Amino acid sequence: MSKLSVDHLLGIKYLQPGDIKLILDTAQNFKEVINRPIKKVPSLRDITVANLFFENSTRTKLSFELAEKRLSADVVNFSASSSSVKKGETLIDTVNNILSMKVDIVVMRHPNPGAPEFLSRNVDTTIINAGDGTHEHPTQALLDTFSLRQELGDIKGARVCIVGDIKHSRVALSNIFCLQRMGAEVMVCGPTTLIPKHIETLGVKVSHNIREALKWCDVANVLRIQLERQGGEHDVRYFPSIREYSQQFGINGEMISQTGKKIVIMHPGPINRGVEITSDVADSAESLILEQVENGVAVRMAVLYLLAGEIGRN
Ligand code: CP
Repeated sequence: MSKLSVDHLLGIKYLQPGDIKLILDTAQNFKEVINRPIKKVPSLRDITVANLFFENSTRTKLSFELAEKRLSADVVNFSASSSSVKKGETLIDTVNNILSMKVDIVVMRHPNPGAPEFLSRNVDTTIINAGDGTHEHPTQALLDTFSLRQELGDIKGARVCIVGDIKHSRVALSNIFCLQRMGAEVMVCGPTTLIPKHIETLGVKVSHNIREALKWCDVANVLRIQLERQGGEHDVRYFPSIREYSQQFGINGEMISQTGKKIVIMHPGPINRGVEITSDVADSAESLILEQVENGVAVRMAVLYLLAGEIGRN
């Protein structure tokens, strides 16, 4: 496979295993490029990319911007908090106004699930989903899978447990799709209230016991509790307190040692140290957390490069 089967990156669920392999192999080449003294290549010269962030981000926003600049694209950044969205402009009007300035690719984070897909059907440009509400975060799953392949050599047969707030996590859903397409076995572990009903229909195992889950897995991908998606109007709580959550599901060094084996530790960030993970685990030799961030740039370069090919510009 030398080209993607999709024109946009809206979610992992639209990708074939061959698409994922192509993105990861292309990212491997870009990883070598960004470790050279001259880190820039001209692949996206004359392409303009708009980064539209309607929700907060540190890693994803910076990583996309660096990836675009390493590929020599022209880059414009848009943040909803300082834009005319605040004056009542619709999403389609906002994006069409930006596209009038001759933008080729839109990278978009939005709090509403499905917003990038909606846009892809209503505006004439290439869309990359940088996280849409509780739905998908495809580039996070791709960089997680890339990091894991680099660590394990092969994803096939690996046992990966995603721990924490599965219900509100776009990272969990995209990781489930991506890991399964690459042949891994996936378990989700967390309180009953934070695991979506019927999730086993996606072919994942379910556990509510972190010690048993750690015994089963080779890799623990630990998620933060997404309090910003839980409160809402009526301040709904899914567990009695952060302290209780931490006691029941937080991962610490003692739990890992009790399994008597090596467990690779991953986390998409931002980390809440002492809540879902202790510092001794987050900063251990088994932790891939900072490598995930480093690999994010190469993976996003690969996605941008391959999609720019789809619009006939490389
Ligand atoms: N992992 C992730 O999406 O982090 P940001 O919210 O900082 O982009």
